[in-house]
Amino acid sequence: MALNMYSLLKLVLICSFLPTNSPSSLNYPAVFNFGDSNSDTGGIVAGKAFPLIPPNGETYFLEPSGRFCDGRLIIDFLMEAMELPYLNPYLDSVGSPSFATGCNFATGGSTILPANAVSTSPFSFNLQLSQFFRFKNRVIALLLEDKELQRYLPPEDSFKQGLYMFDIGQNDLDAAFYSSTSEEQVLASIPKILSGLKYGIKRLYDAGARNFWIHNTGPLGCLPRIIATFGKNASNLDELGCIISHNRAANVFNLKLYDICLKFLAQLPEANCTFVDIYSIKLNLISNYSLYGFQQPLAACCGYGGPPLNFDTRITCGVTKNLNGSIVTANSCNNTAKNINWDGNHYTEAANRFVADLILSGNYSDSPHLANAPLILT
Ligand SMILES: *[C@@H]1O[C@H](CO)[C@@H](O)[C@H](O)[C@H]1NC(C)=O
Ligand SMILES: *[C@@H]1O[C@H](CO)[C@@H](O)[C@H](O)[C@H]1NC(C)=O
Ligand SMILES: *[C@@H]1O[C@H](CO)[C@@H](O)[C@H](O)[C@H]1NC(C)=O
Ligand SMILES: *[C@@H]1O[C@H](CO)[C@@H](O)[C@H](O)[C@H]1NC(C)=O
Ligand SMILES: *[C@@H]1O[C@H](CO)[C@@H](O)[C@H](O)[C@H]1NC(C)=O
Ligand SMILES: *[C@@H]1O[C@H](CO)[C@@H](O)[C@H](O)[C@H]1NC(C)=O
Repeated sequence: MALNMYSLLKLVLICSFLPTNSPSSLNYPAVFNFGDSNSDTGGIVAGKAFPLIPPNGETYFLEPSGRFCDGRLIIDFLMEAMELPYLNPYLDSVGSPSFATGCNFATGGSTILPANAVSTSPFSFNLQLSQFFRFKNRVIALLLEDKELQRYLPPEDSFKQGLYMFDIGQNDLDAAFYSSTSEEQVLASIPKILSGLKYGIKRLYDAGARNFWIHNTGPLGCLPRIIATFGKNASNLDELGCIISHNRAANVFNLKLYDICLKFLAQLPEANCTFVDIYSIKLNLISNYSLYGFQQPLAACCGYGGPPLNFDTRITCGVTKNLNGSIVTANSCNNTAKNINWDGNHYTEAANRFVADLILSGNYSDSPHLANAPLILT
């Protein structure tokens, strides 16, 4: 019953994805981003001195850049497309950071639900919002004191005209599968997770934000770590080799997220909300990898253990360890551009570029309008 309903919802969702909006005409004075490692440009490394070591960064920045990647993230490519500099993390204070065209509040490991003592990142969504409000208030106060600071800080107008981006929720689902006893329990937790996001977006709107851009969550069940952990019983795997339950939960999450976008528009008449179907882009990439020039759809590039996943939970990318008497290193693969997955949990720069290109094509984006809203979503 639940499954039939799910397929039906999925069909309705796909049909409602008309390329009504072409994001290639992106033109914003500033970007304010909230999220997790999928869009963290150095926040968790700055904020809690998280040790992100080589070979992270090897392809593009040629040193670790605070990104869980060999190079650029999706958000970096989107900033390039907007002809804006890469986002400086809010927490990165050393050097000469410029926030004139935006600020990144995303940090690796962050959740929508409030962090607890064992969370990887203490900077969950509610805290990222608090940081944003402090940032905004400080910027406005400082600009009143000294106009010269416009070189480093966004003008007040940018808070209204800027783009507010969100890519968060993957870690909430991920954690739910470790702590729950059943898939039903995970699915039941989704409304609570999403209510935190909805509430936060509303707060931003009330403070003057108007342009919203929401990435849905990717196919969690296709990450090497998830497959290695939950895929020991082959009946848990789909035809791609991904974990069925995790991808199903990601789909349910995404349907409800889309619904929030719709309701949001109904309630907040001045809001623009673009919904980007990251899930479908990434699943397309993994399904059709050879068509798109990749050789490895699922194996981690930087990892240990060899095929099929080249992933071992005991040893993360770049680390050297004594594993049961022998010294081993989780090295990078020889050609990162042939792998979709970077380190078992994150995508390679090559994959991120592919995803960004498809986002910019407009074919996977929707700015839902109430007139064509699917009626059965609740
Ligand atoms: C694998 O999962 C199936 C379906 O849940 C179950 O019937 C079967 O006993 C499991 N096999 C093993 C080896 O655990
Ligand atoms: C939404 O964005 C479009 C394109 O940028 C713009 O033309 C429109 O006025 C915006 N709508 C609102 C309500 O801000
Ligand atoms: C893979 O590519 C084929 C042919 O372009 C397309 O029809 C299919 O939808 C793609 N798969 C996914 C999951 O998008
Ligand atoms: C260590 O090696 C021994 C002997 O090969 C094996 O029995 C044991 O399971 C290994 N332990 C781990 C943690 O790999
Ligand atoms: C990388 O290339 C070197 C030299 O060609 C080779 O010895 C090594 O096995 C390759 N490593 C991987 C992971 O393919
Ligand atoms: C986007 O969709 C249009 C119309 O279906 C198609 O012609 C175009 O090739 C697509 N672009 C990409 C990058 O997939």
